[in-house]
Amino acid sequence: MKITMIGSGYVGLVSGACFADFGHDVVCVDLDNAKIDALKGGKVPIYEPGLAELIERNVKAGRISFTTELVPSVARADIVFIAVGTPSRRGDGHADLSFVEAAAADIARAMDGFTVVVTKSTVPVGTGDEVERIIAATRPDGDFAVVSNPEFLREGAAIEDFKRPDRIVVGSEDPRALAAMREAYRPLSLNKSPILEMNRRSAELTKYAGNAFLATKITFINEIADLCEKTGANVQQVARGIGLDNRIGSKFLHAGPGYGGSCFPKDTLALLKTAQDFEAPQAIVEAVVQTNEKRKRAMGRKVIQAIGDDVRGKVVTVLGLTFKPNTDDMRDSPAIAIVQTLQDAGAVVHAYDPEGMPNARDVLRDVVYFDDPYEAMDDAEAITIVTEWDEFRALDLGKVQAKLKGMVLVDLRNIYDRDEIEMLGIKYIGVGR
Ligand code: UDX
Repeated sequence: MKITMIGSGYVGLVSGACFADFGHDVVCVDLDNAKIDALKGGKVPIYEPGLAELIERNVKAGRISFTTELVPSVARADIVFIAVGTPSRRGDGHADLSFVEAAAADIARAMDGFTVVVTKSTVPVGTGDEVERIIAATRPDGDFAVVSNPEFLREGAAIEDFKRPDRIVVGSEDPRALAAMREAYRPLSLNKSPILEMNRRSAELTKYAGNAFLATKITFINEIADLCEKTGANVQQVARGIGLDNRIGSKFLHAGPGYGGSCFPKDTLALLKTAQDFEAPQAIVEAVVQTNEKRKRAMGRKVIQAIGDDVRGKVVTVLGLTFKPNTDDMRDSPAIAIVQTLQDAGAVVHAYDPEGMPNARDVLRDVVYFDDPYEAMDDAEAITIVTEWDEFRALDLGKVQAKLKGMVLVDLRNIYDRDEIEMLGIKYIGVGR
């Protein structure tokens, strides 16, 4: 099949490369010359494990190419995916649909023959209708169908998630469009990943409801963690105790510093806006958003209290800055609020992150960055682990002990054993245990 991706960002590139690997003929389009030039030169502009190799393999096989020329790319396509950004609109938290709308208008001008137009970007309920309206306005006789096909890719595991999804959601009631989508995803249905066909609005809402539910699950266990701390319970034991109940499930029950990233914060806010517009209040999601927001700064205060309240002029070492491991993404990372809280209290923040420092430098300016985690610990009053990168799970604890001045480790991801750390004479503070 001929597939065209509009938008060669995270979702567009991962999806494009995976479709190419399925044997389809894929063109990835982007307005950004520099990005396309880089891709043509074999450089992948984002960090995602396995993506560079996947792209290289499919470029060699002639199944994927990159271009800034939208018109011929759309004209050739059986399916055009819109995979552009939908950031939070400044001020009101609504998803900003201007890139989606622009893509729809471009597709309308360029499409040739029956074209399936698929929104892969996360878009509020009703956006499919709007895309359809925009295209029909330019091409009243156009032969096309608009489909919603949300992605459920986790950063750092996106290729695995694309190739072995729990399910594929396809929102359309057009038989030709459904047949094309089944064909596009055929290798997956052979692997027994169910393709759920539903109406377009249901597909659009599935994405938001899914992310809001996961954000709720995390926020729930985070609050239970606070209660565990006060009552002498251990949140990891409680999480295991409830998670083995199949009705609850054990995933997304890791207590931590609060969720971040490019999806949960933005999508929960957008869901609240939709709820407002349609007058169907989502009180639970509202509470989740507020609770998570407060938690990030509270985690900064937790570190301050561990040191003993006055941190003025004291060095605090932050290990891990990205919102989760295996990504360089700093968007809405809890580390931002944690570092700022420490700095507001007068601490000198030293930081190290395996991949996130280039992006971190743009958002956290007064931090002293180190290329080595141990160097970042020189003179430190405390260390706090904010992101659970594998390399922090295997720190040389003897070296840590030798470097630390204040002998405090605040492990916001619960990756260490209390006994192991306290044996070294280092005070250990985890989350909810
Ligand atoms: C998420 C969804 O999982 C994915 O389906 C969707 O398409 C995009 O958003 P992603 O943002 O890449 O993916 O990361 P995810 O692994 O879901 O983690 C999100 C945040 O929640 C991270 O900050 C992570 O640290 C936090 N988290 C996750 C927890 O604090 N505890 C958990 O148990 C799980």
